[in-house]
Amino acid sequence: MSVAVVCPGSFDPITVGHLDVFERAAERFDRVVVAVLENPRKQGMFTVAERLELISAETEHLENLEVDRFRGLLVDYCNAIGVGVVCKGVRGSQDLDYELQMAQMNRRIGGVETVFLVASPEHTYLSSSLVKEVARGGGSITGTVPERVAAALYDKLG
Ligand code: PNS
Repeated sequence: MSVAVVCPGSFDPITVGHLDVFERAAERFDRVVVAVLENPRKQGMFTVAERLELISAETEHLENLEVDRFRGLLVDYCNAIGVGVVCKGVRGSQDLDYELQMAQMNRRIGGVETVFLVASPEHTYLSSSLVKEVARGGGSITGTVPERVAAALYDKLG
């Protein structure tokens, strides 16, 4: 049986923690679709096009991984592309509480299952928002995002 999964998120921007989850998903599943949410109610630091470009560049080596964008409900997107499983990374109990709610709702409203990959211990503290906050404050973000992403972030911050 061939299993395809969608890894959804804002990815504003991707961190090394996201990349770790993508790589591990690509090792375990036959097809991985990284899907960036287009959220008209929340403007990010990066445009969706920029986020897609950064993800594509950082995942070029993963042949069974593709990148895409979606708007509206995740389950509608999954069903539209014929993928019945969502794959998410969880960093700890706080993530899990929220993720369980979404997973149950997604199964209820769209029949979409969710599988979780436990974040690698060295990434459990990492989030896109913290990385942006540290970069804004002039702190070091070395090792938290790929170099290309760090350069793009500093570009944004002028
Ligand atoms: O990276 P994030 O911001 O934690 O990702 C959250 C995301 C995009 C996976 C989640 O907000 C989502 O699926 N949004 C799409 C809208 C939707 O389906 N909402 C109902 C969830 S039960």
